[in-house]
Amino acid sequence: MSAAKRNAGYRAAEEVEDGMVVGLGTGSTVFFAMERLGERIAEDGLAIAGVPTSYQAAIRARRYGIPLTSLDEHPELDIAIDGADQIDPALRLIKGRGAALLREKCVCDAAQRAVIVVDGTKMVETLDAPVPVEVLPFAVEAVSRRIAALGADPVLREGVKKDGPVVTDNGNFIVDCSFGTIADPGHLEAEIASIPGALECGLFCAYGKKITVIVGEETGCSVV
Ligand code: A5P
Repeated sequence: MSAAKRNAGYRAAEEVEDGMVVGLGTGSTVFFAMERLGERIAEDGLAIAGVPTSYQAAIRARRYGIPLTSLDEHPELDIAIDGADQIDPALRLIKGRGAALLREKCVCDAAQRAVIVVDGTKMVETLDAPVPVEVLPFAVEAVSRRIAALGADPVLREGVKKDGPVVTDNGNFIVDCSFGTIADPGHLEAEIASIPGALECGLFCAYGKKITVIVGEETGCSVV
């Protein structure tokens, strides 16, 4: 599996050109892209700046020698590279397993194009994974009730190495919402967005036209 992720990540890094400002997603696959970008910086003098989508992405970028900047300094990005949890044929995504979905969507939205790196297990006919929703802690019960009314079974995400709720890099909670098969992902994304206190959800349905998907395989990759 990690060979497939590495092949996708390394291929995505070749999409980055000198002078670009690059959105840096979070997750095991995009970190391979960051590793390769670090090599290109060190070996070829590639001059780029990255906007990290999480503390973890920032730590990795520093480790690989990628200079960092912010979305405030660069509200328009040349490219974003990120992972995903599921992708359907219309290039609609579910993201957020790593709880970085809010900043990831800001960065995807700000980028001229988005390169999504995955292994083949992420490609599905119909989105059906739980949809993570970043929720204002003040409103977590109210938001969960509203989401349940949309047909989900919302579960507050709790820490593996911590007691109690996972707290995102933005100080919020994550509620994982299983809807089963999602018939109309764009409509569901809009419904969740209309709930006060639901700050963002992991459905990314509006970006198909600017998304390129790189699917890693054990011995190479394909571009969708
Ligand atoms: C982070 O919150 C997520 O959106 C990740 O981008 C997504 O879960 C993909 O991660 P992997 O590349 O580790 O599968």
